Parts: sequence; structure tokens; C-alpha cells
Amino acid sequence: MHILGIESSCDDTSVALVEATENGFVVVSEKTSSQIEVHKKYGGVIPEIAGRMHAENIIPVVEEVMKNQNKPDVVAVTSGPGLITGLLVGVETGKTLSNLWNIPLVSVNHIDGHIHSVELKAEKTTIEFPAICLVVSGGHTELLLMTNHNKFELLGKTRDDASGETFDKVAKLIGFEYPGGAKISKEAENGNPKAIDFPRPMIQTGYEFSFAGLKTSALYWLRDNPKFNKQDFCASFETAIVDVLTTKTIRSIKEFNPKTVILAGGVSANKKLRETLGQTINKTNAKLLIPEMKYTMDNAAMIAVAGYYKTIKNNYTDWKTIEADPNWKVYTNNNE
Ligand code: KG4
Ligand code: ZN
Repeated sequence: MHILGIESSCDDTSVALVEATENGFVVVSEKTSSQIEVHKKYGGVIPEIAGRMHAENIIPVVEEVMKNQNKPDVVAVTSGPGLITGLLVGVETGKTLSNLWNIPLVSVNHIDGHIHSVELKAEKTTIEFPAICLVVSGGHTELLLMTNHNKFELLGKTRDDASGETFDKVAKLIGFEYPGGAKISKEAENGNPKAIDFPRPMIQTGYEFSFAGLKTSALYWLRDNPKFNKQDFCASFETAIVDVLTTKTIRSIKEFNPKTVILAGGVSANKKLRETLGQTINKTNAKLLIPEMKYTMDNAAMIAVAGYYKTIKNNYTDWKTIEADPNWKVYTNNNE
């Protein structure tokens, strides 16, 4: 089966043709057009510019991916959550292709896509259930219990800033360009993680997160220490976030005894988080799945994989009724 994935929920216009084979998923062709250089100037993603750029780029990107390829069996499109300006472009394109090619359409949740990015491996990799998913990105920080493909319960999420957002805001305070998360972690590599004792908000109990206080505490620390060692600052700040994320994930592993633990979303590119979580999970019965570096970021291949699992359950959406939903929650429980 060939699935054409479409992703345009934030600042990447991405299209991928993925084949589901007996040996796992094969990315036949893919293309992502990033808008980061444009949004950088404003220090964040500007929704109107994003929408316009998605509209300009989507058809050329589809054309390039589909060059010399046969018609796919199904189209899978991100219809939420994300920026409405971007989602509309992807959804309209998905609808048009489904109608034009007379093939079914599946509506994919962006978070479900990030989680399925772990199956995009050269060696066949499958999620086993129950799974615990730590989704960490610019817009999300969620700990989820996954009981089957496309089936989630929320254990806890952030009350305020997402972890990637916290990285980016603190990066801005020390003069790094947007998005500064990766720059902080690079700088942290040679720093002393114990140099500054930043707070670990809400670490003691439960599965809820809160990062606004950590951001404010970084702001005050910088105000009071105008001369500082950037490497030590970055290492200490990064460790505070990683400690919170790891502690809560381990707590959920103890409670739910999962077969798989999934780390996904843009912040899953963070080396320290990968290593710390890897070391702690090694001591449990669970298997840690992390996406390949190139699939930690927003991409359409992960949308195609999540779409595959809806396709095999005939979980289609008619092109006449599909709608973009900027607030679509991936989980079905009401644990907020
Ligand atoms: O999933 P993603 O590409 O887009 C969203 O859906 O938000 O995530 C982007 C986020 C940004 O906040 C970026 O700074 C962060 O992921 N990020 C990192 C690293 N690489 C990307 N944060 C910390 N360490 C990294 N190495
Ligand atoms: Zn994302």
C-alpha cells in the first residue's frame, strides 16, 4: 500500500510518499519546504505568513514528490492541531487529491503522526501496547498512554509553556535566534549542569507539567548575573527540563508497566534527553523508541504512517466533510 502524507500544521510544508511493506515502512519520495528563515526575523511563527507560504509551496512540493510515481492508494493529511492558516492549505490539498484521483482520504492528528515517526526505521520497528508516549515539541508537552494505534489517554500535559517553547524563549534571552532549542543543547555540551540550581517545577508528584516558572527563574537569574558562563547556564537549564521530563516518564512506567516507551516531537532531538531517558529505561522492562533525527521535526512521512493504521481500519473521512481543527485533541479522556 502506498500512502501520500501531507503536513502543513506549522512552518513546514511537507509531502511524502510512503510504502507499507512486510518489512516496515519505506519512504519512496519526500520533500519538505521549511519557512524557518522567514519566521526567524520575527522571533516566532507568524500565522498569516505561514498560511501564504504553505499555499505557494504545496503544489510544487506535491508535484516533486509524485514525479514518475504511480497514483497512491490513500491520502493522509494533518487536520489538527496546529495553525488554522496552515492546516487549511493541507486539508484543501488532501481533499482535492482524494477527489481528483478517486482515492480515500484519512484525517491524521499531528501528535499521532509524531508518535508514529518511531516506526520510520530501516529495520522494521513496531509499537507494542500498552505504550507510554512523551510528546515534546514547540507547541506540546504531553504524557500519553497509548492502548492501540490512534488510541490515547492523556496522563498529563503542560499547564502553561511547552518544553520546546521554554527552550526557545530562554534561548532568546541569551541572544540565540529562533528556534533556539538546538543551540542551547549544543552550548550545554561542554557546560556544568550543576552550576546553577534551577527549579524543577511540579517534579514531586503527578503527570502535569509547568515550565513558565523555570523560564521566569532563568530571566531573573540573568538579570542578577549579567556576567555569566553561557555553557554552564545552558547545561543547568537543559538539565532542569530533562530532569522533569524523565522523572514524570519513569513515574508513568512504574504505574502502567508499558511494553514500549516513545519519545517524540521536536525536542526529542535533544541528546541529553535521549541519553538520560535511555539510561533510566534500560533498567525497566520497557523498550524505548526514538525517531531518527530527521523525523524528530515536523514531516509528512510520519503522517503517512499514522494514516496507514487508520486506513487498515477503514477509518476514512469523506473529502466533503473533512475539516481542519486547530484544537483537535489526540486523546479521548477528559483528564485536564
Ligand atoms: O515538533 P516540532 O518540529 O514543531 C512543533 O510541532 O512544535 O518542534 C520544534 C521544537 C522547537 O521548540 C525547537 O527549539 C525544539 O523543538 N528543538 C529542540 C532541539 N531541537 C529542536 N529543543 C531542545 N533541544 C534540541 N536539540
Ligand atoms: Zn510537531
